[in-house]
Amino acid sequence: MLGSELLRGERLLLTALGRDDAATVATWYADAEFLRMYDAMAAFPKGEEEIVARIEEAAKSDRTFLFGLRTAADGALIGQAAIESILWTHRVGWLSIALGPGHWGQGFGTEAMRLLLPYAFGELNLYRLQLTVFDYNARALALYARFGFRREGVFRRFLLRDGERHDMLLMGLLADEWREGRVE
Ligand SMILES: CC(C)(COP(=O)(O)OP(=O)(O)OC[C@H]1O[C@@H](n2cnc3c(N)ncnc32)[C@H](O)[C@@H]1OP(=O)(O)O)[C@@H](O)C(=O)NCCC(=O)NCCS
Repeated sequence: MLGSELLRGERLLLTALGRDDAATVATWYADAEFLRMYDAMAAFPKGEEEIVARIEEAAKSDRTFLFGLRTAADGALIGQAAIESILWTHRVGWLSIALGPGHWGQGFGTEAMRLLLPYAFGELNLYRLQLTVFDYNARALALYARFGFRREGVFRRFLLRDGERHDMLLMGLLADEWREGRVE
């Protein structure tokens, strides 16, 4: 049926994020492993105010779609995802996804992608999605590869963490590629 599964998967919902979610999100941003998977900035906790500001900023922008990922079973917030920095002229956007610690490796990322990609290509009508990922983030690399993202470039030795340098990869997926190789 038209749109019936746009925001709702078997176990996961794409929802808005609100002020009330900031406390939960802040617990994720207090976890160093999460921060080092998600962001190249120095791992530094984010307070609730900063998180609320991001939510409010996103709500005002027509270039940012910020989602809360909630379980269909009880509505618990377990992650966030964004399609952002959209260049409407070119129909290009950046994709990001993050589950809170404790929710990794249980297939939620896979299910979130099953919702986010149809949303990006079928609702926003984007032509290209891109993202960056660190070479040590095995789960994320497996996830993006599974959905057909191609490695398009390498920011060689971009990160320096605990005295070791790591690459950051640029990955991209085109609407045509996604339609042809659609992973269910
Ligand atoms: C990256 C992330 C979204 C992936 O979601 P997830 O729910 O953990 O991943 P899934 O359980 O759906 O599994 C994804 C893939 O990783 C594989 N995987 C699971 N645990 C793994 C591990 N410890 N090491 C390597 N691969 C692993 C799974 O087998 C699966 O691959 P497959 O589809 O080829 O079988 C999630 O782990 C996360 O939010 N991590 C912290 C923030 C982050 O890294 N965001 C992405 C930044 S680019």
